[in-house]
Amino acid sequence: MHRHAMTRRGMLKAGAAALAAGFVKPSFAADPLKIGLILPLTGPFASTGRQIEAACRLYMRNNGDSVVGRKVELIVKDDTGVAPETTKRIAQELVVQENVNVLAGFGLTPLALAAAPIATQSKTPMIVMAAATSIITSKSPYIVRTGFTLPQVTWPIAEWAPKNKIKTAVTLVTDYAPGLDAEKTFVSRFTGAGGKVLESVRVPLRNPDYAPFLQRAKDARPDALFVFVPSGEGSAVMKQFSDRGLKEAGVRMIGTGDVVDDDLLESMGDVAVGVVTSFHYSAAHDSPENKAYVDAFMKTNKFRPNFHSVGGYDGMHAIYEAMKKAGANPDGDKLVDAMKGMKWTSPRGPMTIDPATRDPIQTVYIRRVEMVEGKPWSIEFEKFENVKDPGI
Ligand code: PHB
Repeated sequence: MHRHAMTRRGMLKAGAAALAAGFVKPSFAADPLKIGLILPLTGPFASTGRQIEAACRLYMRNNGDSVVGRKVELIVKDDTGVAPETTKRIAQELVVQENVNVLAGFGLTPLALAAAPIATQSKTPMIVMAAATSIITSKSPYIVRTGFTLPQVTWPIAEWAPKNKIKTAVTLVTDYAPGLDAEKTFVSRFTGAGGKVLESVRVPLRNPDYAPFLQRAKDARPDALFVFVPSGEGSAVMKQFSDRGLKEAGVRMIGTGDVVDDDLLESMGDVAVGVVTSFHYSAAHDSPENKAYVDAFMKTNKFRPNFHSVGGYDGMHAIYEAMKKAGANPDGDKLVDAMKGMKWTSPRGPMTIDPATRDPIQTVYIRRVEMVEGKPWSIEFEKFENVKDPGI
């Protein structure tokens, strides 16, 4: 045990020295462009990894497996989703041993935060495809985010609710950074728009049991329950919402779109119908780009693409287009610079990388779950355009 710990520490130290001394090999135009994709592929957040890996591979099928003469090589690593030190070690190994040009993935906030110093020390672009706490991009100038931020997708539902007969609410969030972003944003915007928050409850990230929290929420008799839970957790929340009889008690469910994640929505069935959320992506988004995306995705994967998948797909787009702009052999600074201000039409709608913050500027939609041909989908019915991360 002790020996093992020493070896590990020694390795980390040697790795840090290599990073600092610039031992990282220069790459040449003919070398492959290596993308180290770190994802939760096992554990409670495995759906996030499965979605993002599938989307990155689809991007390469649609756009070719080379860019400006360099073969694109995805090196996929499973970080299990729950151990920041594991994510950090994998990021370091990818940089020092595999000499990757880009780090990408990052399923949860604590994992992205743990890897940020590696990106900074090695000057490696780090594409955050999933993790969504506001502060993430401020932790390294090499981070570019292609998913979303919690404050960005929370305020639209907070302002929509009081105009739609929701005057009182209880908030329920997972007790870690993105949940706190969602809670703070919801409370301040909902209150500012004339609503009243009766109670705020926080559920642990590890082994959550939603039953007692939903009972408390029901006892407070609000017009609505606002929910943020990370993707993968929606079904468990929905089941307790149903079992505890909140719907029958007249409590509506609202939230960010994570709770009606397209990966799980089909299996939730009737209980999800009527849930109103604000979000940047629905698999039901009505555009030719999204129709082509969903068709191609479902043909190869046999499951619905969710919002994390578009974070992955657009992350690959940002890398490919930055390579085209910056030439075949750019350093990390040039690659990140080429992503700043980049604009394109994503399956989600219009998308821009904010040149100041390296966060996405995008449309946020208000959506309601409806049955369409026997299956539940989040149908968009209102939109807020060019939404930036407002911070918290
Ligand atoms: C996060 O940890 O930042 C995170 C994960 C999953 C989500 C949203 C945020 O659905």
